[in-house]
Amino acid sequence: MMSNTESQLRAIAARHGIELNSVRPQPLHERIQELERCLLDQSVPHPILPEFAAPYLAAAQAGEPFKIGTLSGDSVDLGAFRNAQRYDDYTLEEHLSWACLIAEQQRTKHMYACQEYQQGEKVFEIGGTVIPDFYLLNARIFQQTCWQLATVNMIIPAELFFTCHSHRFFPVTTFMRALEQDYLQEPDIGHDVAGHVATFTIPVVAHVMRNHGLARNIIYGERDDQLASASNDQDRLAIQQKADELLLYAERIYWFTVEFGLVMQQGEVRAFGAGILSSPGETVFSVQSTKPTRLLIDPSLDTDLLRLATTDYLISEFQKTYFVTEHFDLLESLTPDRIVSTAKLAAKLPHFSWRDIAPGDKVINVGESAVSTNEKYLRLMSNQLCDDCLTRSAIRNLRLLIHGLAPGMDLQRVWRGPIADVPPGLLEWFREEDAKHRFQHATRPLSF
Ligand SMILES: [Fe+2]
Repeated sequence: MMSNTESQLRAIAARHGIELNSVRPQPLHERIQELERCLLDQSVPHPILPEFAAPYLAAAQAGEPFKIGTLSGDSVDLGAFRNAQRYDDYTLEEHLSWACLIAEQQRTKHMYACQEYQQGEKVFEIGGTVIPDFYLLNARIFQQTCWQLATVNMIIPAELFFTCHSHRFFPVTTFMRALEQDYLQEPDIGHDVAGHVATFTIPVVAHVMRNHGLARNIIYGERDDQLASASNDQDRLAIQQKADELLLYAERIYWFTVEFGLVMQQGEVRAFGAGILSSPGETVFSVQSTKPTRLLIDPSLDTDLLRLATTDYLISEFQKTYFVTEHFDLLESLTPDRIVSTAKLAAKLPHFSWRDIAPGDKVINVGESAVSTNEKYLRLMSNQLCDDCLTRSAIRNLRLLIHGLAPGMDLQRVWRGPIADVPPGLLEWFREEDAKHRFQHATRPLSF
């Protein structure tokens, strides 16, 4: 993928304060020496047993591509998404892209990243001017956290993503974004490693990640029980769709914390979400810009957790609303059962778009893109569409209101207050238009 000449690469490197000659990966024998030292380290929280270290080192010495299950024998079936890191295949341009990302992160993280993230980077020695060799990185992650890397070839379905989490495997891609690309929808090494890996050292973040994996197991375990007694294809399809829907709402809790979470530290807003920290542009934007809305949450409160599970979003651009956790310790409350029960409740409630300010929100600042909860309905009715997120949440809510809330659903008790009244005549108008299949385009968000 060498599309720039060396002189062009030198100029790009210089723009980021990098000397191109420093962008040189270590040869295999040097990487092996470093790996050997790492594997012998018994002072770490989780030393690697010699019977696992020996074949791991041998595979690395033989130049075998790194893949899932090489270290401990434990593994997850990744199916068609299985992949391997062929370290020596990375081009100078790809290493430089990593170096530029790290250089930009260095400029922003001191002011905007939470302290624990910066500490985590030191523990895993993430940084430098070349893409990390997964043999070494995987060993270090295991030694510190018992998590391992699962190399995948592309964005993977949510069910598989969280299955990996339940086994303490973190899916990582092996490709690097194009040079100087700040934000991309699809995760690359920059996102997966420079964004996520450092946050593994924050115990409560690893706890939330693992518990989402266990929540997935509960949701799909219940699905399997129901499928066993289903008598026809229509019922089987409905059971499958219900499980997928619940996982989608559980994913939103993950999205607004592990991926795009902010936290209060010493009275200041700081970023800990990997989606934010893998984009230097969004790192500054999320903390400093007046464009997004920032809402304070206490995730140990059911209503605040429900706010996350009922908030729809898009992945195509910087977020419109960030949720600021009052303190990291509050995330301890995210048990698998609580994630599942919140997702189940979310399935029965009206949802918010990523621009809405909801009743009871603890507003830190109202963003320039914020709208009232009614605006999505009015825009839909007057055909003044704003973005897919507003359209999608408006259609969902109007269908729910026409269909009727579940019997016994007491919004005052489970929610922060009654749903805002929709404008007169809107429900009738929507019922007629929906019957004509006008809103078939409403889509679900992409996954990880
Ligand atoms: Fe991510």
